[in-house]
Amino acid sequence: MDIQNVFVLTGAGISAESGLGTFRDRGGVWSRFDPMKLATPEAFAADPVLVHDFYNMRRRDALNAQPNAAHTALAELESGLAAQGRNLFLCTQNVDDLHERAGSRAVVHMHGELSRVRCLACGDGRPWREDLTVETPCPSCGVAGRMRPDVVWFGEMPKHLDAIEDALIKSDLFVAIGTSGAVYPAAGYVAQAQAFGIPTLALNLEAADNAGMFARTRLGLASATVPAFVADILAGADGS
Ligand code: APR
Repeated sequence: MDIQNVFVLTGAGISAESGLGTFRDRGGVWSRFDPMKLATPEAFAADPVLVHDFYNMRRRDALNAQPNAAHTALAELESGLAAQGRNLFLCTQNVDDLHERAGSRAVVHMHGELSRVRCLACGDGRPWREDLTVETPCPSCGVAGRMRPDVVWFGEMPKHLDAIEDALIKSDLFVAIGTSGAVYPAAGYVAQAQAFGIPTLALNLEAADNAGMFARTRLGLASATVPAFVADILAGADGS
């Protein structure tokens, strides 16, 4: 099959070898912290100091981390496909900027970005690399204490869903990398791809919750499986 449009969905597993924690692995973030107390609008309203502390820690960790070979390989996939007149749609559940720092130019962050903040008073959104506190005034409207991390919390609508669905339907290959398939709508994309007759491939350390939905799976560390996959696709293989 001629692979013109590749859709790649990444999850926390692709950043694990960069030292950033996954969520549901043994020792994962949600086994140490309660997401309902840290990653919901209600949690932020109830205890903004606690939520700011949690996201300040994660923002600092993400900014101190380095992209790994898997991120670099996907940046090479983007430029390599473009040189061949083909396309990559890179959708990530991750809120770190390691794809961008590895050289990826078009990254769709469906769960938002740690490196951006948003003001609940005026709606202003902007890049942000420092700690955020309940005293921080909005640079746009000046109101203090209404700035929040521009990430998608549980109970909130993920971003860019129309663009993602549009790219998924047009894709010739759907690849999920480093995701447990536990959180929707991302976890449901493989079923949609299958329904459209699109070949599916999972690159993961272990079988994900939705592993049975994938036509093919390659188990292993992303730093090994992703470069091998990219080399195959750029050489004209179909990713099987
Ligand atoms: N290489 C490849 N896969 C890995 C690696 C690695 N080095 N390390 C871990 N994995 C796999 C794990 O086996 C697991 O299946 O990555 C997956 C990570 O799953 P989760 O921790 O659930 O992360 P993710 O799927 O991205 O979570 C989805 O949940 O809490 C929300 O918003 C949060 O975006 C996140 C979403």
